[in-house]
Amino acid sequence: MGTEDAPTPAAEALAPRPASASHVVLSQLMEVTDANVLGNVHGGVLMRLADTAAALAAAKHAGGPCVTVSVDQMVFREPVHVGDLVTFRASVNGVGTTSLECGVRIEAERLRTGEVVHASSAYFVYVAIDDAGRPRPVPPLVAETPEERRRQREAEMRRANRIRHREELERARSAAEAQGEEPAARGSMDP
Ligand SMILES: CC(C)(COP(=O)(O)OP(=O)(O)OC[C@H]1O[C@@H](n2cnc3c(N)ncnc32)[C@H](O)[C@@H]1OP(=O)(O)O)[C@@H](O)C(=O)NCCC(=O)NCCS
Repeated sequence: MGTEDAPTPAAEALAPRPASASHVVLSQLMEVTDANVLGNVHGGVLMRLADTAAALAAAKHAGGPCVTVSVDQMVFREPVHVGDLVTFRASVNGVGTTSLECGVRIEAERLRTGEVVHASSAYFVYVAIDDAGRPRPVPPLVAETPEERRRQREAEMRRANRIRHREELERARSAAEAQGEEPAARGSMDP
């Protein structure tokens, strides 16, 4: 008879999870109220929905609430029109200790013709939080397919770039202060 203890709830919560388990698909018809003054869909409308889809992917992986800490990049490749059906596909690309990077691919279907265009791509960073709003550890991510492994590698490159960029800014500010400039207000949220 086996004598192994069952994993504790805390250990289970931090068991590695496959990237595919975080996948979220969100579709929405673009309406007149989503338009900008040019008549196309406002970029901020797409950004909000992309953030919603990505936050759900982050929460699925983390097993609880996550807050947006940074928008790493959002590229608008094609205009989206009123009347298009827009689909947001989000999943976790990579994780740190308490943070997660989610990628979102945004496609617009021109309903009159059936044409589907890759309208936008975005990367958001979230931090999983506990009941007191403090960062809490997230499970490791298991990338199972070549595509998931490529996304994980690229997420690690963006994370390294973010950390290097933050350190460079910190050094530049310290150097300016050493030259007699007023100290700048600082916090971990500073870019
Ligand atoms: C997100 C928050 C909980 C982080 O708290 P904190 O005390 O700064 O946390 P830490 O410095 O320990 O950093 C936690 C993680 O966030 C990452 N992080 C912090 N600032 C970051 C930034 N500007 N960009 C990307 N990642 C960042 C850290 O690298 C760390 O990741 P890791 O644990 O995977 O290594 C806090 O800043 C917060 O509540 N911000 C407001 C969030 C919000 O209101 N969002 C909008 C609505 S959802």
